[in-house]
Amino acid sequence: MTTETSSGTRTAAPFPDGFTWGAATAAYQIEGAVAEDGRTPSIWDTFTHTPGHTHRGDTGDIACDAYHRLETDLDLIASLGLQAYRWSVSWNRIMPAAGGPPNPAGLDFYDRLTDGLLERGIQPVVTLYHWDLPQWIQDDGGWANRDVVGHFSDFAEAVLDRIGDRVPRWVTINEPYCIAFHGHLSGKHAPGVTDEATAVRAAHHVLLAHGGALERIRRIAPQAKAGIALNLSDVHPASDASPDIDAATRVDLVENRVFLAPLLRNRYPNDAEQFWANATDFTFVNDGDLDAISRPMDFLGVNFYEQHHVAADAAAEPSPPDIVRGTRKLPPEPPVSAVGVGVRPDGLYNVLIRLHRDWTDLPMWITENGIALHDYVSPDGRCHDPERIEYLTHHLRAAARAIHDGVPLEAYLAWSLMANVEWSEGYRVRYGLTYVDFATQTRLPKTSAHWFRRVIASNVVPPDGGNDD
Ligand code: FCB
Repeated sequence: MTTETSSGTRTAAPFPDGFTWGAATAAYQIEGAVAEDGRTPSIWDTFTHTPGHTHRGDTGDIACDAYHRLETDLDLIASLGLQAYRWSVSWNRIMPAAGGPPNPAGLDFYDRLTDGLLERGIQPVVTLYHWDLPQWIQDDGGWANRDVVGHFSDFAEAVLDRIGDRVPRWVTINEPYCIAFHGHLSGKHAPGVTDEATAVRAAHHVLLAHGGALERIRRIAPQAKAGIALNLSDVHPASDASPDIDAATRVDLVENRVFLAPLLRNRYPNDAEQFWANATDFTFVNDGDLDAISRPMDFLGVNFYEQHHVAADAAAEPSPPDIVRGTRKLPPEPPVSAVGVGVRPDGLYNVLIRLHRDWTDLPMWITENGIALHDYVSPDGRCHDPERIEYLTHHLRAAARAIHDGVPLEAYLAWSLMANVEWSEGYRVRYGLTYVDFATQTRLPKTSAHWFRRVIASNVVPPDGGNDD
């Protein structure tokens, strides 16, 4: 398979037969209907309704109104030719109160979503946790309290009992790094805690909850495939100087290895206890925890967004994007996205190769990848997003190159199916294949969606410079 020329992108890049193409969403980002059918608040409802946390105070109260537009969105997914659709279950819609029974109305919604996808020949990929912790659990300490692990298993069981017979693939938890370190150290995400000891403890409980849910999946849906989605970054030192190399090692610890090692090696990395020695002594790790965390998975979900070049900076305090003590990320070289993230397809290649070479033989799914832009509808009534087509072209070519070089990559799920509420960025920027007019809730596939549909149909990524019709 020839994918690269010296200029990088002049030939078509074919994908293997059976490669799966799809797109992803998350419950809080699209559903709206926050006070309906028995749903109670999650930490994201509380967070977005607290002044100063999100761009212009934006919330997910309505978002894409997807809870009320199931048929429209199912038809949209089918019209784009997607083969898989990754969505997440709102924990607080299913478990609205402490000790209470699962909420039948919430389960009905996801049941209809599952069947609607299957009727259209689309594979459901279900994420159990995409950041919306029920507020009643947060009130009891949230991810910092080990009890969360049992609550998550109960929730997983309720969902599995209802749709476990029909869902072929499960992602237990989305991006433990963001949950732990943006939720509990930078405070950029809900619940907005800024305490290093709490963040490390939360990370452990997130991993443990993954292990508990995995056990439930094995028991209730033994035929299904199960994994976790990690957002892994490609980390480089800013120079050959040893302080910069050490700084990059620390960023790699916090963003990548502190999750990879427990999941895939049954231990925390050797440098973890030393790095966090002033914050915590790891006594929250009980006997048997690492065995539970490292239960075998069927695949590894990779969310790829970022490459970092890291310099040492003794004075640096945790503040996004630099949440690792003593380190500073260099501003990315252009091109950058609307949220200032560098466009680095080589970073995706590096992450995939490293995972396969150093960490695991597991099949991999790219469970998220995409770019934030300031999309708009043109006078011709269409949403032209050539930058996204270019972004996808380069990232898919990087993925094809990784497959060529031996990485067992089985799927690519674009982030996102449609523009939605981008957490603390609110509606300021837009990701995704479909433009949403939030005033009317009209969905308009962008030119990148049409392009992506052709890629899916042919299983080939065309050379760069294809038109955006
Ligand atoms: C990831 C999140 C996803 C979306 C993208 C842009 O970190 O998992 O929900 O916000 O970033």
